Order: sequence, then C-alpha cells, then structure tokens
Amino acid sequence: MKKPFVAGNWKMNTDSHTSIELAESIASGSLEFAGRRVHVAVIPPFVYIPAVVKALGTSSIAVGAQDIYTEPQGAFTGEISASMLKDIGCNYALCGHSERRHVIGETDELINKKVSASVSGGLLPILCVGELLEERQAGRTNEVITRQINSDLAGLSAEKVSAVTLAYEPVWAIGTGQTATPQQAQEVHALIRKLLGEMYDNQLAEEIRILYGGSAKPDNAADLMHQPDINGLLVGGASLNAHDFIAIIKSLSE
Ligand code: PGA
Repeated sequence: MKKPFVAGNWKMNTDSHTSIELAESIASGSLEFAGRRVHVAVIPPFVYIPAVVKALGTSSIAVGAQDIYTEPQGAFTGEISASMLKDIGCNYALCGHSERRHVIGETDELINKKVSASVSGGLLPILCVGELLEERQAGRTNEVITRQINSDLAGLSAEKVSAVTLAYEPVWAIGTGQTATPQQAQEVHALIRKLLGEMYDNQLAEEIRILYGGSAKPDNAADLMHQPDINGLLVGGASLNAHDFIAIIKSLSE
C-alpha cells in the first residue's frame, strides 16, 4: 500500500501573517500523522514560500510551488525556475493546474516542458489533468484525459516519470462544491493507470501516485480514498482552513 498523500494548494490566497499562522497551525495539528501515516505538502504563493518553510520548522510537511518555468535561468522576466525553488526548500511543483490551463492559457506542450524541467531541477512534479464540464457532458472525458496524459508526459523517460505524482482534477469540480462521485473519480484514475501501463510498464503504473482534486473536504475525503486507484487528495479551498485540512489529513491516516 502506498502511503496516502495530501497536498493543500493555497492558490492566490493568504498574506505574510496568515500564511505563517496557517502553516504553524497545520504543523502542530497534524504532528501525529504527517510524515508517519500520510505524506503532507502545502503549496503557498511563491512569495511566502521561505516564511512557510521556516514556520513548518522540523515538521515533516513538505512545501510545493504552484508553478515553475521551463528554463533553469536566464532572461525570462517574471519567471521562477525549479532550481530556485529547490534552493529555498521546495520539494514539489504543480504543473498544468486547470487554472493555469484555462485562465492563463497554458498548452500541453508548455506543461510537458514544465514537468520535465521540474524533475531536471530536482523537484517532484504534481501534474494535474482534468476535463471541462462541456467535455464530460459530451462524453469526451476519456479522450481529453488520454490526450493530456500522452502529451504532458511525451518524451519523458520511465525514470523521470517515476518522480511524477498525477492529480485528476475535473474542472467542473474545482471550487464549485460539486465533488466528483468516488465512482466517477475511480473510473478516470483507472484510465490514467492503464495509460501509464501502455506508455511505460505495469509496475511503474502501479507505483505512481494519483491524487483526486476538486472540492475535496473532510466529509468526502474518506469515501474518495476508499477507491482502489485514489492515492491521495489535492485540496484547494479546504486547505485554507487549518481545522478542515487537519481533519482531511486525519481521515487519510485511518
Ligand atoms: P478546490 O480546488 O478544492 O477548491 O476545489 C482544488 C484545486 O484546484 O487543486
């Protein structure tokens, strides 16, 4: 059994005080579970990462970045590289979050380069995939997920891919309060594992962690986690409330 993994994506929220408070509350409230029974990561805005790393102190909670750039350094005004993030204590980087795909306009080609750059720069990418509501309604979910997995991992060796965590996040479930049912999520997770088996091999497909994200909360976490192909949760809104996030961590530890 893989150790469950829960990551809290703070998105563009918190400030210099509340980011530290939230990190401290999560660290103290999850001491018995984090690292032992559940892998835990928080993903604050770039500018608060150093303060959050410090606030988490010796807890075993990891820190991630919400995005990275494809190049290690150079004339790329406004961008931040994997090696810079590694340097300030980050372990993970989200790649291809739906808000980056659909609000900022990132393409599969760019996301593919980001996944590769994360691993080359020493970070563990969390690659997010997911269909829009109209794609699900048109019966195109499997086609969209297949295209995203094939193109976002294109050209990556099995060794690189073994550093990747996948996250299935149906766009219609993100921030809407409308969670995918455990069965809907399981179907797509099983598809992703099948695709990984075809692209690489069954052992790698079995070992890769696949998280679910989209309105995950304390009261639906356990049901989602009972599905055979769901290995953890990527939590947005509920990760901004220490009480709720700790409740999710606890329910994953049971
Ligand atoms: P949500 O966000 O939990 O607020 O739906 C999830 C995500 O965007 O990762």
